[in-house]
Amino acid sequence: MRSLGTTAFWQSYRELPTGIRDAARAAYKKFLLDPAHPSLQLERLRSDPRFWSVRVTRDFRAVAQRLESDTWIWVWIGSHNDFDRRFPAQVALRTSRVLLMKILFLGGTGNISAECAALLYERGHEILVVTRGRNAVPANYQAIVADRKDASAMRAALQGVRPEVVINFLGYDLPDVRVDYELFNGVVRQYLFISSTSVYEKPPRKLPLTEDAPVGNAWWEYAQKKVACEQWLRQRGEEPSFPVTIVRPSHTYSKRWVPNAVSSGSYTFAARLEQGKPVFVHDDGESPWTLTAAADFAVGLAGLVGNADAIGETFHITSDEVLTWNQIYAEIAAALAVESPQIVKVPTDFICQMAPQLTGTLKGDKAHPGVFDNSKIKRFVPEFRCRKPFRAGVRESVSWLREHPDQQNLRPDLDTLIERVIRAWERRGSD
Ligand SMILES: NC(=O)c1ccc[n+]([C@@H]2O[C@H](COP(=O)([O-])OP(=O)(O)OC[C@H]3O[C@@H](n4cnc5c(N)ncnc54)[C@H](OP(=O)(O)O)[C@@H]3O)[C@@H](O)[C@H]2O)c1
Repeated sequence: MRSLGTTAFWQSYRELPTGIRDAARAAYKKFLLDPAHPSLQLERLRSDPRFWSVRVTRDFRAVAQRLESDTWIWVWIGSHNDFDRRFPAQVALRTSRVLLMKILFLGGTGNISAECAALLYERGHEILVVTRGRNAVPANYQAIVADRKDASAMRAALQGVRPEVVINFLGYDLPDVRVDYELFNGVVRQYLFISSTSVYEKPPRKLPLTEDAPVGNAWWEYAQKKVACEQWLRQRGEEPSFPVTIVRPSHTYSKRWVPNAVSSGSYTFAARLEQGKPVFVHDDGESPWTLTAAADFAVGLAGLVGNADAIGETFHITSDEVLTWNQIYAEIAAALAVESPQIVKVPTDFICQMAPQLTGTLKGDKAHPGVFDNSKIKRFVPEFRCRKPFRAGVRESVSWLREHPDQQNLRPDLDTLIERVIRAWERRGSD
């Protein structure tokens, strides 16, 4: 290996504080022995793959051009902030794990995002979360309090915050992602948008669904807005200064949820079964569906974070376990130790007539088969495998929610709604 510095490099070097010059010499010694030493975080620049960046300290780095014949020409050394200005969003992200990234979650303490933040923290990254502060934020994270819907509060709270990666779990509408673009364009090395598999056209033309399936959901405004966000971000992502990855979870639950087709974020459905009250299943209950444990989803997501190959790509991340709704409700009943659950089959059209608020989630999602081909995420993140079958996951949820009744989010309005649909279905024709 040959290694030389340009005049400009040496000039920048001389202007550095003594301690940083010492650190640069130490990093250089390491580099001569092993350029791929993990502490150097050797990374290729995105715009020009001949150039590479090397970590000097937490706040300083250097850039070299690598010529054929293994000659390295050092062209620049300086602070991370200067680097960001000079090479905005240019650093290529390696497929291997990059240590100590500063990762900002929009959300981060919710049903899915809490598992993802915990895993990335465990892997050594610095975690910052933007929430309203209603859910407790783990003490090891940096908590930033702001209402995501208030653009000026977001600007104020995030002033001077320079994350390397942003994961947006709170993108429900175009104004949300527009603020993110304003705040993070030219700053981040990767912006991950958490979308939804509800974006796929219903009914699906082909199963299992792959990421290139047509999008557009005639029934659900939530899905229509996710499609609009995806499309807007994909256009912004064509600019090198805003590298976007789109991730579509399907129905994904943590221990805080007993998932069902009415409202997964509330224990009401399970509580009715516990109390020996009837619940309904849509149609004949035989439509296939996929439920994914948040802890499994987190492994797929974490493998995309800091992954250069994932920039500009779209992924769904789901389990390969496919169950019918009848099987799902039988598992929930078994987890609750309810021996003879009363599950009434009611046509989707009838449910939506009685409870129009369920039209989006049923006709726009759960009344259609939800089966996914996960080969793309497995190709990009080979360690991704869903390890938790629903039978195990739902038991964890039931026991955790029984131990934490304050987290059950029981909703009397849902209880009344389920009762009303069933009574109306049983009375049909007799009026
Ligand atoms: N779970 C699924 O089945 C599923 C399927 C497809 C897509 N998704 C997508 O996954 C994302 C939801 O992720 P999640 O499950 O982690 O969310 P979640 O359970 O709804 O949690 C929301 C998180 O964001 C914070 N938050 C909520 N409103 C906020 C606001 N206005 N300003 C600032 N912080 C706010 C909450 O903390 P505070 O309350 O303390 O503010 C919490 O940390 C959504 O984008 C959703 O579309 C989920």
